[in-house]
Amino acid sequence: GITRHYKFNIRLQNVTRLCHTKSMVTVNGKFPGPRIIAREGDRVLIKVVNHVQNNISIHWHGIRQLRSGWADGPAYVTQCPIQTGQIYVYNFTIVGQRGTLWWHAHISWLRATVYGPLVVLPRKNVSYPFPKPHKEVPILFGEWWNANSEAVITQALQTGAGPNVSDAYTINGLPGPLYNCSANDTFKLKVKPGKTYLLRLINAALNDELFFSIANHTLTVVEADAIYVKPFKTNIVLITPGQTTNILLKTKNHSPNATFLMAARPYFTGQGTFDNSTTAGILEYEQPSNSSSPTIIKNLPLFKPTLPALNDTSFAMNFSTKFRSLANAQFPANVPQTVQKHFFFTVGLGTNPCPKNQTCQGPNNSTKFAASVNNISFILPTTALLQAHFFGQSNGVYTTDFPTTPLFPFNYTGTPPNNTMQGRNIQGTRGGHGPPKILEKKLTLPIVLQHVNGTKVVVLPFNTSVELVMQDTSILGAESHPLHLHGFNVFVIGQGFGNYDPNKDPAKFNLVDPIERNTVGVPSGGWVAIRFLADNPGVWFMHCHYDVHLSWGLKMAWVVMDGKLPRQKLPPPPSDLPKC
Ligand code: C2O
Repeated sequence: GITRHYKFNIRLQNVTRLCHTKSMVTVNGKFPGPRIIAREGDRVLIKVVNHVQNNISIHWHGIRQLRSGWADGPAYVTQCPIQTGQIYVYNFTIVGQRGTLWWHAHISWLRATVYGPLVVLPRKNVSYPFPKPHKEVPILFGEWWNANSEAVITQALQTGAGPNVSDAYTINGLPGPLYNCSANDTFKLKVKPGKTYLLRLINAALNDELFFSIANHTLTVVEADAIYVKPFKTNIVLITPGQTTNILLKTKNHSPNATFLMAARPYFTGQGTFDNSTTAGILEYEQPSNSSSPTIIKNLPLFKPTLPALNDTSFAMNFSTKFRSLANAQFPANVPQTVQKHFFFTVGLGTNPCPKNQTCQGPNNSTKFAASVNNISFILPTTALLQAHFFGQSNGVYTTDFPTTPLFPFNYTGTPPNNTMQGRNIQGTRGGHGPPKILEKKLTLPIVLQHVNGTKVVVLPFNTSVELVMQDTSILGAESHPLHLHGFNVFVIGQGFGNYDPNKDPAKFNLVDPIERNTVGVPSGGWVAIRFLADNPGVWFMHCHYDVHLSWGLKMAWVVMDGKLPRQKLPPPPSDLPKC
């Protein structure tokens, strides 16, 4: 491989959407940010220079960072943030990966404006396991707030309620013609008839899973999270925040100027009301090159795609079980066949005591909403976990007693225990994945709702084979959770609705050709089982990729110890690693 150099200047830029201009944090003044392109085997150096008042850090989402955890990026996990005026060079080599990934800020909610595609092409002279596309096009889904990101997160955290919903969803930063003031802010894809296009879909939205479809066209899914899959056809794709999906679009023999809407809209599983808004782009057939008549589109295209109902959980489950690894000689699925460590984690919402001097909208008015893994609401330390681990200074930074099973086992997807939640009066927050607002004030809280704050990790010896079952809890309404594990791909060996049954469900596990992912959807009111091999020494963050749940504590970390051989050890940090 070769070495590729990029420079990211973090700076403010005025950007206008929905007729509203705001000054926001960007990379090189671009929104979405610049595209990084490399090949498998290349080394990538990205020099990040922070010119803004905010602290920043950048995560290369899905890059395995084999023995290069110092370049992973989550603030206070693998590094201290890059402060104003500081520079940090992210330095990593892409080993054994090719496909669509992305990068984003990994501090506060800055990823709302700081994100972009990271495309890893196969090695030179190596082709795709599908016909060579005529063109490749990244399609990033995002969210736009008229308010700035910091104000949005502050509002969500201080009241302990859900965040204000975004003002628009976007395709490549553009809301599209279904929003006010946005006819000119519309992503347009010009295509020729009878060709194959590779669309690299990336869900960079903060808090919503999205359905995506293109009117009158069939899509063929060929890759997910930079792992080739057995191709399958679909009219609609569901993509959760953090995930990427490559699809082939075969154009038909439509006449020039024929136009079709492509559209994305949330899949919403929480209770209450929701944001029904839709971002759209235009697929436009080109004039033949010998034609002289100009292309003028005056009106909205007639053809609109049909998307599933907002709460269509069976579509979601069906769609996610269609993904299968190629599992062939060239692209084997190395699923751990034996398991050394089993874990059972509940993921979901609950409550925390309301901090002094704040008004909280959680139950009883004395609590605020929180989220947890096994009832632990994770608190980021004020120094980086990886440094503390590497230098043997974990004392006062983290503890190693993360529970391997829930603190308060109960019927996770049944009626909440003690009947204490009955008679509640719930009103949902608009938009994705805030908790329902509980208006009834006099409630006795079941203990299962209560979270314990902590900075607790799980320690794994090098090369441990791990099986982890993650169970959604539906105390405050069933919700899906896109769980992202840094530093690894995981095999998704099973999933289902209801409570996981350790006596029956393992018999149905797929240990032959399961999909490999870096971001796994825990189904709403259900469970998912994954396996991975802990072959990457370092400290690896695992969290819900909804930023609101991340902020509320639905996160934890794995510490993977060094192996015995030199090539099984994490090297020391680079000299420019930021200090806290
Ligand atoms: Cu894409 Cu820890 O995140």
